[in-house]
Amino acid sequence: MSYEDKIDRNRIPTHIAIIMDGNGRWAKEHGLERAEGHSRGTKRAWSIVEDAVNLGVRYITLYAFSTENWKRPPKEVKVLMNLVLSNLEEKIFMDNNTRLRMIGDLNRIPLIVRNRIKKCMKTTENNTRAEVVIALSYSSRWEIARAARLLAEDVRNGILNPDDIDEEKFASKLNASFMPDPDLIIRTGGEIRLSNFLMWQASYSELYFTDVYWPDFDKEELCKAIYSFQNRERRFGLTSAQVTGADNQK
Ligand code: FPP
Repeated sequence: MSYEDKIDRNRIPTHIAIIMDGNGRWAKEHGLERAEGHSRGTKRAWSIVEDAVNLGVRYITLYAFSTENWKRPPKEVKVLMNLVLSNLEEKIFMDNNTRLRMIGDLNRIPLIVRNRIKKCMKTTENNTRAEVVIALSYSSRWEIARAARLLAEDVRNGILNPDDIDEEKFASKLNASFMPDPDLIIRTGGEIRLSNFLMWQASYSELYFTDVYWPDFDKEELCKAIYSFQNRERRFGLTSAQVTGADNQK
């Protein structure tokens, strides 16, 4: 029985976030340039978005380029920016009734790419089926430091009392404040770490790691990750008995 048949369609995670790793190693294993790995990875990103949306996922966040990725060889940075530029087509989003959102430091993105992103976000802003969030020039530490700065500015401007800063207020200043925390974070490519991705939001996310390289991560692999998610008990700090309702003694 395939994982696609095994998953419970009534308990699909609302938000899946993905660290798309392994493009370079996939290319090497196939005797191809790294650029070809990224190109295949981009095609895979769109097919997985389509599969996830068809399964009922409401938010899909893709880690496309981290703050640290700016340190890669300029040639590779250019390849990745060009892929973003040539792949953010309104048509894909309009056909799927999905909305494009971005998180990350857009100021560092080349102007031509930034304009493409802004146009695509504007055109798709009323689409309602799902939100596709691309993390570009993003890192959690950047996002958290920025939130602290915004709060400090509000204090300086006299519109915020430091005593009123709580988790909710802090989260409201995060770049990703528009989306719910991810239920499931998937990392392909065999590494077992978060690499500065959604570290505030991942507090209670289920983490799923697979050795499969991103260009090979197909619908069946996605369903396998969802199946793993569905077979875990999310306790959010409570006891198992509390979560299952077996604890009647309080
Ligand atoms: C990690 O593989 C992947 C990246 C750094 C880039 C991922 C970006 C894309 C797939 C493009 C997405 C674009 C859009 C518009 C969604 P790696 O290069 O670190 O692989 P390696 O660890 O095997 O070298």
